Amino acid sequence: MKVLLVGPPGAGKGTQGELLANRLLLRHVAAGDLLRAEVAAGTPLGVQAAGLMDRGELVPDQLMLDLVMPAVVSAADAGGYLLDGFPRTVGQAHAARAWLRGREVDHAGPDAVVVLEVPEDVLVERILARGRPDDTEEVVRRRLRVYAQETEPLVEFYRQEQLVHTIDGTMPVAEVSDAILAELDVPRG
Ligand code: AP5
Repeated sequence: MKVLLVGPPGAGKGTQGELLANRLLLRHVAAGDLLRAEVAAGTPLGVQAAGLMDRGELVPDQLMLDLVMPAVVSAADAGGYLLDGFPRTVGQAHAARAWLRGREVDHAGPDAVVVLEVPEDVLVERILARGRPDDTEEVVRRRLRVYAQETEPLVEFYRQEQLVHTIDGTMPVAEVSDAILAELDVPRG
């Protein structure tokens, strides 16, 4: 099973990605976590990404492809993934497909897209309570704007391909997990 998790900042992509990956024995591939590891290690890629992340802006597509796609292919080959945070624009989705086609690994793309819906006031409350470096009110507002402008069209793109499953992300964490599994027809156990 290869699932892409989509949702605004604070919707619970990381939380559900980790939980469901553990439950289903799949890999959790999180674009933001991969980026933060590069920043912490001070790699050239991390140095390039750090300022953009601190401002809540998107990191360049090529850098994201180089960072995330090898992990996606490796996870797909190992049985599947919960992928969160990439692609997050229609351009990235096209670029990811071209990347896979170029390497003849088309099978590694997602077969379901789970969209977590949470109203903005709840998102802001959750994020400000967490306190990551990019969790200030000003940066959160920018991340929400970027989501509306760049990622909502991606949801439409996948909707046209009939891959989208919409989930109410305001429920308690365990209920959100159960709702995702039910929506994807995965037996709970
Ligand atoms: P990223 O790390 O992906 O951040 P994000 O998309 O803004 O999402 P968050 O991590 O804030 O939220 P989440 O949905 O994962 O929620 P979480 O589970 O943490 O990206 C960071 C930056 O990296 C971007 O701004 C950009 O600069 C760059 N980047 C990443 N991907 C990129 C890409 N593809 N292209 C270009 N740039 C990219 O939960 C949030 C909080 O809520 C937690 O405290 C959690 O405990 C709590 N919570 C979760 N679920 C519930 C629930 N059901 N009830 C109550 N609380 C809950």
